[in-house]
Amino acid sequence: MSRKMKNKVVTDLKIERIATEGKCVGHHDGKVVFVKDVAPGDVVDVRITRGKSSFMEGEPVHFHEYSKDRIEPFCSHFGTCGGCKWQHINYDLQKSYKRQQVVDQFSRIGKVENMPEVQPIIGSDNTRYYRNKLDFTFSNNRWLTREEIDSGAEFERNALGFHIPKMFDKIVDIEHCYLQGNISNEVRNELREFALDNKLSFYDIRNQVGLLRNLIIRSTSTGESMVIVQFGADKTEEIDMVMAFLKNKFPQITALLYIVNLKKNETFHDLEVVTYAGKPFIEEEMEGLKFRIGPKSFYQTNSEQAYELYKVTREFADLQGDEVVYDLYTGTGTIANFVAKQAKQVIGIEYVEAAIVDAKLNAEVNGINNALFYAGDMKDMLNDEFIASHSKPDVVITDPPRAGMHEDVVNMLLQLEAPKIVYVSCNPATQARDVALLSEKYSLDKIQPVDMFPQTYHVENVVRLTLKKS
Ligand SMILES: C[S@@+](CC[C@H](N)C(=O)[O-])C[C@H]1O[C@@H](n2cnc3c(N)ncnc32)[C@H](O)[C@@H]1O
Repeated sequence: MSRKMKNKVVTDLKIERIATEGKCVGHHDGKVVFVKDVAPGDVVDVRITRGKSSFMEGEPVHFHEYSKDRIEPFCSHFGTCGGCKWQHINYDLQKSYKRQQVVDQFSRIGKVENMPEVQPIIGSDNTRYYRNKLDFTFSNNRWLTREEIDSGAEFERNALGFHIPKMFDKIVDIEHCYLQGNISNEVRNELREFALDNKLSFYDIRNQVGLLRNLIIRSTSTGESMVIVQFGADKTEEIDMVMAFLKNKFPQITALLYIVNLKKNETFHDLEVVTYAGKPFIEEEMEGLKFRIGPKSFYQTNSEQAYELYKVTREFADLQGDEVVYDLYTGTGTIANFVAKQAKQVIGIEYVEAAIVDAKLNAEVNGINNALFYAGDMKDMLNDEFIASHSKPDVVITDPPRAGMHEDVVNMLLQLEAPKIVYVSCNPATQARDVALLSEKYSLDKIQPVDMFPQTYHVENVVRLTLKKS
């Protein structure tokens, strides 16, 4: 039946539990059906969007029963925006589902002997306004709701907000976003109004024209904020008009920057960032350490939970002061600098050169002189020559991107035989895969999930691996 099922409607499907990536699971004719935008306990009719021999995927078209665990979503953009997909589930349940994802991934993929208990997830005190960075897109193609289209009325089509999931050219116009506090909502709304009043053009992504392209707002727990406007046209007068407006309206912005981006995509790692007013960076603080964040630097997007994550990492590393620590995928060296005081030496590796410049600067700003940082691709950097010219690590901390570690890196870790590995990950599936490979020589002795992203299905997880005695 598999492919023939596409577009068919499965009726009265009881949603049983959460699976990965926020989808839920039900069963139909002995097959698993993955359904988006539902909650365990719902009973729904599901339109099948993909049929395979072993499973199906679908979307709800009619609800017969709503789960008793559902709560009313608080955001008016819920369901369209795609940013906080779990607002309809209360936070305690969100946390238990996230922990369960870690349990499932490690039981299914990890195939680890004597798996330790997955600890209760460390929740976030703030479940709203917890992000320190948001990225908004200007568009001349605002997403219209079904009711708006059916009304036949004329609507303003310029928008400033978020992409509709899987639609690169449609933007939902955001009135209020519960993800970032501080001046974020005000800056976005005032700038949109100013642009509309002054008839400035919003970007047309299909034809690659338009002045206003993108707006990034970053903030710190110390009250600093960075606003970056990306322009899609090099029009000095209009650019100055926009930047002067922001400067005068929001004197509290501590780093007001802009970029002229005439490329096809919005990435700006290769472009000049102009400081219009204030400093070219903002500064976050953690345990008295200062972290300088430039417009191109990565910084964990939930500062308060980043602190929790780093504390778990440091506790798992259990440093005594005489260890050499490798911090792989170090970004701007935050973890390396955070643990430096407890180690003899820390060595951070990361492929974004600008991040390594920041990492070195962060070490210097904080008077840390036992940290070394190197830029390069991990699989090329972590080789025999590198190891020979540095001491072998006593502890490896690794925090790769979602894809996990390259197999060559895993093999190098097996060859290195560091007594301890602390593995931080934003994707328990790839983490479990890598841990399974490492289990050839390592035992898994601690698993601690941390919630960095309330209202979403994302979960961060820290594990500790200890070298087996031969
Ligand atoms: C999840 S972030 C970790 C950042 C850092 N540990 C922190 O907490 O701020 C992953 C980092 O890996 C870097 N990265 C991704 N692929 C890489 C590769 N192949 N080699 C080296 N670094 C890589 C990214 O640039 C990013 O900074």
